[in-house]
Amino acid sequence: EGSPYGANPYGAFPGIRPRRLRTTAAMRRLVAEHRVHPSDLILPVFVREGAAEPVPISSMPGVVQHSRDSLKKAAAEAVTAGLGGIMVFGVPEDEKKDAAGTAGTDPDGILQVALRDVRAEVGDDIVIMSDLCLDEYTDHGHCGVLDADGRVDNDTTLERYADMARVQADAGAHVVGPSGMMDGQVAHVRRALDGAGHQDVGIFAYTAKYASTFFGPFREAVASSLQGDRKTYQQDYANGGEALRELALDLAEGADMVMVKPGMPYLDVLKDVADATDVPVGAYQISGEYAMVELAAEKGLVDREAAILETLTGFKRAGARMILTYWATEAAGLVR
Ligand code: PBG
Repeated sequence: EGSPYGANPYGAFPGIRPRRLRTTAAMRRLVAEHRVHPSDLILPVFVREGAAEPVPISSMPGVVQHSRDSLKKAAAEAVTAGLGGIMVFGVPEDEKKDAAGTAGTDPDGILQVALRDVRAEVGDDIVIMSDLCLDEYTDHGHCGVLDADGRVDNDTTLERYADMARVQADAGAHVVGPSGMMDGQVAHVRRALDGAGHQDVGIFAYTAKYASTFFGPFREAVASSLQGDRKTYQQDYANGGEALRELALDLAEGADMVMVKPGMPYLDVLKDVADATDVPVGAYQISGEYAMVELAAEKGLVDREAAILETLTGFKRAGARMILTYWATEAAGLVR
């Protein structure tokens, strides 16, 4: 009575037993609502200018700053693993950093060189994505250029992003990922790409990107020069509904796919965004999330592989079609 399943013939004794569907691994697999497929996964990679060998990133055990050669190998392995995409971040030589982030728009800058390498290596067999942001290239470490008062200047930065979009597309990116959280960046990048004949190059919008302390290890990964924080442009983690406003703007500006970042502390935002749009939604499991699991596993506190799969499946459950994760290549092997 009151039960959607009708009267229980056994009275208080459970006639309906959800545990039946959990009895064996085969049964659980059969009835699983969500699963991770290799093509859901996007591998973020770092390539360091001038590196002869891959350089380990101590804050992210198992992740490296690639040399040009080792990046090509990693891209080929990503294809073999059946990954959906690879997202390339450039790490320029220190002395190439300046206030405007010039190396980010230099056709011979490290990211552009690496994109050409990767495109030559793997062609169209995987979606090649490029990080479109100035922070790796500026000597102050901010995602945009600064005005006379030292504040990040939105509209001047948009002009820099337009140039970045053109050189990255020229270098072979299939998709650009503007990650700087400037207002109007998607529209500006779209216009720049179209104006340069790159109508087919897509935009993976960082729709909801929160000013997160969990970006910590990434700052080492890209040898960031940042002092202070990004709270005047990245979102405040107290705000969830604001993500829907950012979503509406990005879609109106021409975003082809949208992202929520970081991942684990923002599953509610991911779910809200996924429910609100038909475009593909991605979750970015960031450096600090990666490091937490790696270090907990190192201490014997969690089973490493089980923890990886649980976090990735959680993103699928919350509505992600795609997941950026530093474990992408390994995880593809685990779910196969
Ligand atoms: C900024 C950018 C960041 C990440 C990707 N692009 C960090 C930041 O905002 O400081 C973080 C990725 C990670 O932590 O894994 N362009």
